[in-house]
Formats: sequence, structure tokens, C-alpha cells
Amino acid sequence: MSKTLRISKKKKGDPSLSERKAAMAAQDQTIKDSLSLVEHKFLVMSGKGGVGKTSVAANLATALSRRGAKVGLMDVDLHGPDIPRILGLKGVLEASVDGRITPKPYSENLEVISVGSMAGDPDKAVIWRGPLKLQVIRQFISGVQWGKLDYLIIDSPPGTGDEPLTVAQTIPDAKAIIVTMPQEMCLDDVRKSINFCKTVKMEIFGLIENMSGFVCPHCGKPIDLFGTGGGFRTAAAMNIPFLGRIPLDPKMVKSADAGEPYMEEYPDSEATKAYDQIVARIMGAERTKTQMA
Ligand SMILES: Nc1ncnc2c1ncn2[C@@H]1O[C@H](COP(=O)(O)OP(=O)(O)OP(=O)(O)O)[C@@H](O)[C@H]1O
Ligand SMILES: [Mg+2]
Repeated sequence: MSKTLRISKKKKGDPSLSERKAAMAAQDQTIKDSLSLVEHKFLVMSGKGGVGKTSVAANLATALSRRGAKVGLMDVDLHGPDIPRILGLKGVLEASVDGRITPKPYSENLEVISVGSMAGDPDKAVIWRGPLKLQVIRQFISGVQWGKLDYLIIDSPPGTGDEPLTVAQTIPDAKAIIVTMPQEMCLDDVRKSINFCKTVKMEIFGLIENMSGFVCPHCGKPIDLFGTGGGFRTAAAMNIPFLGRIPLDPKMVKSADAGEPYMEEYPDSEATKAYDQIVARIMGAERTKTQMA
């Protein structure tokens, strides 16, 4: 498979509507087949940019894999695919012999794939919009060949646009993990995300409050930078599960910029402990459901 996708406008001789519908149905089936070996799928999303979706997706995937689960991490952010950067990965795309894309092993239990690998030159702005973008993401999702996985974590760009919509449509059993920061300004966007999930009928697994509280590394006193508790209050008000708070830690920015896995570097930090607690909740919740089924 070519590393650069080229999708052009409809020309004479292009497939008819019914041919396109049949092709989409075939693609849906391919996606279903490829994901049939994946037990739990989570879409990490938020209405707002920069709240920490990519960090949360990468750290949840790492924490789950450290507990022995087989995990896939997929980045569907066409405009700003940050997963490879945050994990220090280059050349994430690997085409297998039959043209399917095989994710890259990152550690013993974690495999990673990014749609960014298909977008060509990372320094060029991607200007695909609407249906074209949808097509690219669908093609990407259908092209990835996952093996047996316990969890697939999907990172998406901010907002409730084409990417989360495509995931909701093509992976109907994916559940949303909504990320927010504690301040009021972000919480309006959480409500939008919740309403998006309700509209597309995507189950909301829960809400994570990121950059919640900050302890001064010099004096050890808590500093009320973005506040704390806003996410918890919104989750309670909107009747969705609250998964936990991740504190603000400047070391996380350093690790992300250096492409070093934060949890490996700082296994005893408060943020690592917070991620571990959330992951225990995720694994526990899924286990309980399986036992009850
Ligand atoms: N808990 C945290 N403490 C300190 N810094 C953090 C924390 N979480 C994320 N960051 C930093 O905040 C910045 C934005 O995070 P990230 O890229 O994960 O956000 P995003 O929501 O994925 O952004 P985008 O909307 O652009 O995709 C990064 O520099 C990241 O390292
Ligand atoms: Mg991101």
C-alpha cells in the first residue's frame, strides 16, 4: 500500500451511488472482521483542544499494557497526529504482504498505528474536509489488521467532527472516554461531547479530569491553577461515570516533547498512580460486566 493517499473529486466514469454504497458495505464488513478479535474499544475524545486527549490515550494504553493486557493504540487525528511523537515513534506505518496495514509493536503488549503515517509529509497541512476526510479515515480503519486484543484505544482530534463521527459509525461498539480540564470554560465543551455521544448513540464509558490540581515542586503546596472538581461535578450533573483525576505535572510535557513514555520515566509520580487507578477501574468494570453477562 502506498504511504500517501490520493483521493480526487468525482469524474466521469466514477462509481455510481449504488456501487459506492456496496463498496461502503464491504468496507464496513472488513472493519467488523478486522476488529472481531478486539474485546473492548474506547474512543478518547473532548470538545476542546489541548485538554490532554493524546496524553490520556497514550498513558491509558501504556498503563493497561503494563498490567498485562494486549492493547492497540490508534490515532485518527489527521490534522495533528501526535501519538507517534508522544511515544517517540517514527515510521509507524507498516504494510503487510496482502496490502493490509500492520500496527507497529511498541512494547511487549502494546501496538501502535497512526493515520498520520498515511497523510504523507508531516510538515504539510492536511486540507481534506467532510466526505473526503471521512473516506480517508474509513479507509485507514478498514486497512488496519489487528490481532487479538483486550483493548483498543483510539485518539481523536478535538471537537465532534468527522473523526469521532467516523469512529462512531464504523465501530459501533466503541465507548467514549471524555477528557476535560477542571475549569468552567472546558465544561461547556464536555456537555457538547456528551450530547454528541447521545446523538450518535455511542455509550459513554466515563469522564477523566486532566490537569486537575497542581502541587508546587518547590514548596510542596497545592496551587489552584485550573481548579479541581469541575469534571466530577459535570459528570454527576450529566449522569455519566467519573473515572478519575490526573494531576498537572510539568514532567509530562517534558516527556511528551522528548518522546519518552511518562510512566516508564516516572513510575512513582502522582499522575502515574492516578492513571493506574483509572485503569484498574476500567479493567474492573469490564470484568464485572463480563461476569454478569
Ligand atoms: N496532566 C498533565 N500535566 C501536565 N501537562 C499535561 C498533562 N496532560 C497533558 N499535558 C500536556 O498538555 C499538552 C496538550 O496535551 P495533549 O497533546 O495530550 O492534548 P490534546 O487534547 O490531545 O490536544 P489536541 O486537541 O491538540 O489533540 C501537551 O504538551 C501535554 O504534554
Ligand atoms: Mg491530541
